[in-house]
Amino acid sequence: MKYLKISRSNKLQGSIKISGAKNAALPLLACTILAKNSINIGNLPDVVDINTLLSLLEKLGSSYTKNKNNITISTLSINNTKATYDIVKTMRASILVLGPLLARFGHCEVSLPGGCAIGQRPVDLHLKAMEAMGAQIEIKSGYIQATAPAGLKGAKIVFDKVTVGGTENSVMAAALAQGTTHIINAAKEPEIVQLCEVLVNAGLSIKGIGTSELIIEGTDGELLDFKDFDIIPDRIEAGTYLCAGAITNSKLTIENVIPEHIDAVTAKLEEMNFEIQKTNRTITILPTNEIKPVNIITTEYPGFPTDMQAQFMALATQANGTSIIDEKLFENRFMHVSELMRLGADIHLNGNTATINGTPNKLNATDVMATDLRASSALVLAALVAEGETSIHRIYHLDRGYEDLEGKLTAIGAKVERFNE
Ligand code: EPZ
Repeated sequence: MKYLKISRSNKLQGSIKISGAKNAALPLLACTILAKNSINIGNLPDVVDINTLLSLLEKLGSSYTKNKNNITISTLSINNTKATYDIVKTMRASILVLGPLLARFGHCEVSLPGGCAIGQRPVDLHLKAMEAMGAQIEIKSGYIQATAPAGLKGAKIVFDKVTVGGTENSVMAAALAQGTTHIINAAKEPEIVQLCEVLVNAGLSIKGIGTSELIIEGTDGELLDFKDFDIIPDRIEAGTYLCAGAITNSKLTIENVIPEHIDAVTAKLEEMNFEIQKTNRTITILPTNEIKPVNIITTEYPGFPTDMQAQFMALATQANGTSIIDEKLFENRFMHVSELMRLGADIHLNGNTATINGTPNKLNATDVMATDLRASSALVLAALVAEGETSIHRIYHLDRGYEDLEGKLTAIGAKVERFNE
């Protein structure tokens, strides 16, 4: 296993180019199952989760050629509709093949994703949506066995809870269904907007894109004629590097970002007393004379993202005063708390609320353990300001979603090195 050694960095400087969004690329790759042609996709992030989904698509019978950030993929040759446990257990987002496989083939089997470090993360809402479209679902021997021999039918899907993956699966299933599907209480994340836009460019009719009500006219089984496209920039990677600028109190420019995708994040940085400058495609954070504490409640887009909660907790340890963070989406997304405390942070947890008593420059380096993707990035941020040399173990979590983290941080002056255990 690999680990990172990070030394305290007094100041970072320069600019970081943001990669394509992992959470946009995953559903977009899954939706190529609906294509009648081969597709070129650019700005694909070179991260482990993407390669995991590509292995799954390959196992199903797809073929692709990839060089780092560009791929040409063809799924016409798919001849297997079973997403097996060995792949699904390594990445829950594998569930995203359920909707498109079922829509195209009328049957599929997808291993039930197991437990997860950040919460229970059931997939009941995905399954209910497929059932609303006429699918029969059986859970047998750890697999979701889905069938719709006569094809899926357009339906009214009302989500009890806003679900990103559930919305994505429903949109993809509705694409080839017979008739109109209304999705009520749909998620509105930029990743869902891009999924819908790519499908519209492929000839599908979707109304209400970017709102909580989507209306999709299914093609009744006819595959779609995709156009080539580029993946949108990763708003969470962008937010993470803005936090790197903030925690080290440095001037840093983030390039290749869509600023309005992270308005909720930059607004919180401004509340913490940082000046933020934006252009069309860049965001610059400027140093401050005092980091102020902040109150944060995570919620669905366009609210403050749960995927930035851990990074802001690391930042709050450097504020002058007490910050409060409420995690509303996942019941167990606080695994980083005890690791931040090992670095000397003063944090109290009460249910889903963390109280962080911040004091600038009080963290001391030690060994810490990464537990999930964003928790790991919070530890990287804390390590940038902890006195001494922090070792972060189990960094395979980071590799799942941050492209070339060491390269990008080193280029702006951080001291980051990777070692074998
Ligand atoms: C997506 O996960 C992201 N993953 C997550 O990013 C992100 O944290 C999450 O959305 C919330 O923004 C990808 O896009 C691949 P949900 P997803 O369904 O789709 C509950 C990261 O770090 N729920 O919107 O799985 C669920 O338990 C990752 O990049 C059900 O109860 O999230 C949660 O409490 C981690 N039943 C809430 O809904 C269901 O069937 C929102 O989850 C589905 C979800």
